[in-house]
Amino acid sequence: MTSTAVAPAKVILFGEHFVVHGTSAVLCAIDMLVQVAVTSLEDDILQIESKVGSCKTMISNGKVTDTLGPLAYIARKISKKSGHSGGMHIIVNSHIPSGAGLGSSSACCVAATCATIGLFSECTKEDIVEIALQAERTMFVNASGADSAASAYGGVLCFNIESGFKKLRSSANLSLLVANSGIQRSTDNVVSGVGEFRANNVDRFEKLCQNESKLISKAIPAVMEGDLEKIGEYFGENQSYLEEIGVSNNTLDKMIKITDEYGYGSKITGAGGGGCIISAVPIEKQKEAIEALTDAGYVSHTVNIDHFGARMIH
Ligand code: MEV
Repeated sequence: MTSTAVAPAKVILFGEHFVVHGTSAVLCAIDMLVQVAVTSLEDDILQIESKVGSCKTMISNGKVTDTLGPLAYIARKISKKSGHSGGMHIIVNSHIPSGAGLGSSSACCVAATCATIGLFSECTKEDIVEIALQAERTMFVNASGADSAASAYGGVLCFNIESGFKKLRSSANLSLLVANSGIQRSTDNVVSGVGEFRANNVDRFEKLCQNESKLISKAIPAVMEGDLEKIGEYFGENQSYLEEIGVSNNTLDKMIKITDEYGYGSKITGAGGGGCIISAVPIEKQKEAIEALTDAGYVSHTVNIDHFGARMIH
C-alpha cells in the first residue's frame, strides 16, 4: 500500500533572528511543495530516494547518513507506534530549493510524517508537527518548530519561542516575489554571528528588538488585509534592522535594489548571509521584476499563500 502527501515551504515575513531572542515572528506557508510517497513493505527494508541522497538498509537497525536521518526517524517511530513489523520505501520529490531559507527540510519531514501516518490511520496536524519536529531535531538540534508549524497548518502564523504559534485567520491572497541568491549558508553560523553582535551591542540590540516588536504589531493587520503597499514599506523597515545586525551582504543588497525598482519594498527571508529575499511587487510589475532578476543571474518566483498546509493526495 502507498500513501502520498504534500507539504508547503514557508517564508518568514517579519522577525527572523529577533525571534531567537524573544520577539515574535510572522511566517506564511507558500505554494512551493514537497511530495513524499511512502509504501509499506513486508520485509525489513528501509529504502529512501531523494535529491539529497538515497539508501537501502534495514528498517530495524540499519545505518543511514545524517541527511536521511530525519526520514529514517519518522519511518521507525511511526512503524513502532502502529505495530508495523515490515519495512518502508520512501520517495521524496521536492520543488523547494534546499539551504535557501524556505524551510525545505521541515516541509520534507512534515510531508513524510503525514504520508507515513496516513498508511495506518487518520492523522491530525498536532501529530504531524510533533513527530516532524522530533525528526528535524535529529539533524538541527535548535529548530524552533516555527517552520514545521507553518508547513503543517498552512496560512499565516505568528510564532514566539515562549508561547508557541498562533494561526492568524487571514484569507487574504498575498502574491510575493521570492528571489534566490544561490548562496547556501548555515543558519547556525549566521545565528551565532548575531549572538556576537548582541553581546557587543547589548543596549542597541535591545532597542532593535523593541523596534521589531512595534513593527510586527503594525505589520500583522497589513498582512491580514493583504495590503501589499504597507507590507512592502514594513519589509524595508525590517531589512534595515537585519542590515544593522550584519546578516545582509552585497549580493542580497543588490537583489533588493533590483526588486525595489518594481515594488514597494523587500527584505531577506530566513537567516540571511545568502538564501532568499522576498519582495512586495504588484502583480502587474512581477514579470518585469523577474526578468530583471534573471538578467542579473538570480532565479525568482511568484509565490502565493498556501492556506492548506500538509495534506494527503492519495
Ligand atoms: C531561520 O529561518 C530563522 C532564524 O530566525 C533562526 C530561527 O528562528 O531558528 C534566523
